[in-house]
Amino acid sequence: SFLGLDLGTSGIRAVLLDDGGAVLGDAEARYETQHLQDGWSEQDPSSWIIGLEKVVEALRGSQPEFQNLRGIGVAGHMHGATLLDIENNVLRPCILWNDTRSSAQAKEMNENPLYQRISGNIVFPGFTAPKLAWVHNHEPELFSKVSKVLLPAAYLNFYLTGEHVADMSDSAGTVWFDLENRAWSEALLDQSGMEPQQMPRLVEGSSKAGSLRPEIAAAWGVSGEVIVAGGAGDNAAAACGMGVLNEGQGFVSLGTSGVVLLARDQMRAAPETALHTFCHAVPDRWYQMSVMLSAADSLSWLSNITGRTPAEMTNALGETLQAPGSVSFAPYLSGERTPHNDAFVRGGFSGLSAGTTVTDLTHAVLEGVCFGLRDGLEAMRETGAKFEGLYAVGGGSQSRYWLQMLSTILNTALYLPKGGEFGAAMGAARLGMVAATGASVEDVMQVPDVEEVLQPTSELVGAYDDAYQRFQRLYPAFKSLV
Ligand code: XUL
Repeated sequence: SFLGLDLGTSGIRAVLLDDGGAVLGDAEARYETQHLQDGWSEQDPSSWIIGLEKVVEALRGSQPEFQNLRGIGVAGHMHGATLLDIENNVLRPCILWNDTRSSAQAKEMNENPLYQRISGNIVFPGFTAPKLAWVHNHEPELFSKVSKVLLPAAYLNFYLTGEHVADMSDSAGTVWFDLENRAWSEALLDQSGMEPQQMPRLVEGSSKAGSLRPEIAAAWGVSGEVIVAGGAGDNAAAACGMGVLNEGQGFVSLGTSGVVLLARDQMRAAPETALHTFCHAVPDRWYQMSVMLSAADSLSWLSNITGRTPAEMTNALGETLQAPGSVSFAPYLSGERTPHNDAFVRGGFSGLSAGTTVTDLTHAVLEGVCFGLRDGLEAMRETGAKFEGLYAVGGGSQSRYWLQMLSTILNTALYLPKGGEFGAAMGAARLGMVAATGASVEDVMQVPDVEEVLQPTSELVGAYDDAYQRFQRLYPAFKSLV
């Protein structure tokens, strides 16, 4: 069997696959995030290990196949800095991807064009390099003891194998990385006062990182060698879970935050658009991704203040997509990443009248989120990305109305996958399977079965295009009000 682990922001998820790649079972354990100051977000790596041991115990108890474990893959929330001293002790809580304390350091790094040129990305405050600059400035004594900087997934690799080893997809999110050559960039490390030996060894996500430590294998009741794969950042792993590997394939996720991800067969960075371009977790591929901070979260906000559930609110819109409304919504409740890279802008409505109803506001929120996702997709189209359709996933994809609107606004087909496993834990398990068996990436990483293909409502594409033009004027307007 093969074990996939997704070290998420709110907890760890595990999926166990049989030797044919089918799901045997899954388990989940939650842990806490500490917010000691406004904008800070930290986790104690020991809580990840406690979570890992819990999910393994649950799977061992329910799945006899667990004792025949052959491969493991780990996916993790990206960009976090886990700092180890020379004896591999954790020096401080991990500073997470959604921690914004290092805004000033990120701004300073962005003034140096080398970072964008080599890493292919804007230095976002959530990325790893500016975090280390913050530690250097605010915790100098601790900084001087840093012997290794591990991303969360690489820390789990270390726990499992005893080796410091990370994959390309996650490492690309540090901005110490040469995106085109898939290697640490000595130039960027040097610019930020770091040493190459502080970085883990690199392998492709689908290659072997090491073997499960014998003492863990014994404690888990597993005999024989268990291969641990390089693993992946969670978004690359999700793409592996959905078989999104090659140019022309992609997905859109209407989760708390919104993601549009396209697989690319060449490196096509466009940092000026605030797109993320990272290595894929399989060799010779990259992916591009736009990140919208408040997607389904925008509807949750409206639901909280109106006391109606998101389902009630979207059901009130009926079955058939209507023309755009006269109220517009700027979905910047938490600022925005793509395409604005602006942590300070805030959202709002425009076009309210005495007759505006909660249903009008709901329509506006759904539209605003779709337009924000379109901003990201347009940036990718400009780098030459072509695709016929996108898999649609995430909590918001429960609403047919929202999906029909999204298809119309993005002017692309949406593939609705049949229920089942296709998230980051699934992708991680598949990486473990490739690394352990030598099976080909293409054979293991199949696309999910499609339940239904949604096509845009063609008679409304023009009207929504016009509304999109209006939407694009909201960002400068709301920015000027901050
Ligand atoms: C990607 C990013 C998030 C984290 C959280 O750039 O910051 O998607 O990986 O899971």
